[in-house]
Amino acid sequence: MANDNRQVITVSDPAALAKAAAERVLARIAANSDRVAICLTGGSSPKQLYQLLATEPYRNRIPWPRVHWFIGDERFVAATDPLNNMGMARQLFLDRLAPKANIHPIPTDSADPDEAARRYQSELQSFYGANVLDPDRPLFDVVLMGVGPDGHTASLFPDYPAIEEATRWVVGVPKAHVEPFVPRVSLTLPALGSCREMLFEVAGAEKRAILTRVLESGNLPASRAHSIGETIWLVDAAALPENFRGR
Ligand code: 6PG
Repeated sequence: MANDNRQVITVSDPAALAKAAAERVLARIAANSDRVAICLTGGSSPKQLYQLLATEPYRNRIPWPRVHWFIGDERFVAATDPLNNMGMARQLFLDRLAPKANIHPIPTDSADPDEAARRYQSELQSFYGANVLDPDRPLFDVVLMGVGPDGHTASLFPDYPAIEEATRWVVGVPKAHVEPFVPRVSLTLPALGSCREMLFEVAGAEKRAILTRVLESGNLPASRAHSIGETIWLVDAAALPENFRGR
């Protein structure tokens, strides 16, 4: 079963959610005394987490020189565009704290999303040291994820061919299903799943309907996304589906 390692953890509100996420990221960093790889996500859900990582006591607990930061999907816009996912993470914490060589953006200065995908796949493969993912050696320590109103995650939209990709690690997505309607570049399910922990952050009443569908269905991209290690859904009280209340 794709999701039998999925665990839903409930917290009170977005502030508690960001703290719980920060603690989980720090625990994964602490568990690896070697080079650490974290795959960030875009959208608004991780913003508070990114702010926390730049703040004490979290900031001091991160061994910045040996932590590498990747991004799970990108909007195909310039690095300086306010819509750029890695641009948001850089602005909120990375540019102040991470060595430049440890920040791995998707190269949106490429000719098109497919070329950007190929370049990022090569970068990931050279970081990993192999072209094929080994289930005993996850690519990432942590992969952060969010869920969109249509059940997409990263830039893997329902019924788009990218969701079925089994070989490539990164793909170009010519058209988005939701705003912003710009082409995307996305890691695929096998690449995102090659991690010790996949961590979804979901907050707010507006997410409750889609979260109910994602947790019940097996078919939406966010339902299919899972780690070869642990898959954690951190959910605040407002987003929590009715049938999870009181569990
Ligand atoms: C993006 C994201 C996307 C996001 C969800 C949730 O590029 O927009 O990576 O997959 O995580 O759409 O977005 P919110 O956090 O803004 O609700």
